[in-house]
Amino acid sequence: MEGRSPSFGSRARVYDTLRPQDAAWWRRFDVLVREGDLRGRRVLDVGCGTGALAAALAERAQARVWGIDPSAEMLAVARARVPRRVGLKQGRAESLPFATGWFERVLMSLVVHLVERPAALGEARRVLSRGGLLAIASFHEEHFERYWAAPFFPSLAGVDRARFPTADALVAELEAAGFTGVRLVRTSDADVIDRDTALERLRGRHISTFDLLDPAEVRAGIATAERELPDRIEVRLEQIVAVATR
Ligand SMILES: C[S@@+](CC[C@H](N)C(=O)[O-])C[C@H]1O[C@@H](n2cnc3c(N)ncnc32)[C@H](O)[C@@H]1O
Repeated sequence: MEGRSPSFGSRARVYDTLRPQDAAWWRRFDVLVREGDLRGRRVLDVGCGTGALAAALAERAQARVWGIDPSAEMLAVARARVPRRVGLKQGRAESLPFATGWFERVLMSLVVHLVERPAALGEARRVLSRGGLLAIASFHEEHFERYWAAPFFPSLAGVDRARFPTADALVAELEAAGFTGVRLVRTSDADVIDRDTALERLRGRHISTFDLLDPAEVRAGIATAERELPDRIEVRLEQIVAVATR
């Protein structure tokens, strides 16, 4: 990405603490496995980050998995956690270092807002075999205003709405890239976290959008949250899974 872009290198060490594999994570995993028909498949996880999804797919869904990510720091965390049979490579979605038609499934989980989409979708299609599926997990546009942290950071929802494609735009972009049979599954999920956990997440800048806000706004928002957050906070996630056929 050009200009200001979030830094995942600086987040790698704390990413899994601040964004844990909690009950909501596993519910989303199950949706992805079911809708993407991932069980036992040869899968490429684009933007695999710390390898949580790649490891879970190999261990629980018997998938043969490769992960790719541009961040050496995220990949170092992934290397330490995935089973040896999971392959990892450094690289970008826009130029995948894999042979044409090699994968049965390509995944992008919370990545599609970070890539040059026409190039990345074209590459996903290139590395898929005929009839293969691309499964994209992302946020629905209604997520951002409802997110528990949004009231503390006036620009947060708007910045995210601008960088994440809407569900309709994503469908159109998938069709423009040559995919067929595009379908969308919407999930709405909620968990409760306590105040200390919420503050730990904010102080750790748990979502990369914080890198795109004015640091003064971030500091002021955390100070307000320290004063106003209740003991228990509902974390609501409005997400989509888009599945498209090669
Ligand atoms: C929000 S994290 C998501 C990680 C993981 N997929 C998950 O679901 O937790 C976004 C990841 O996308 C990676 N990323 C950023 N730009 C990318 C690009 N152009 N191609 C592939 N991955 C990219 C980042 O390094 C980071 O690891």
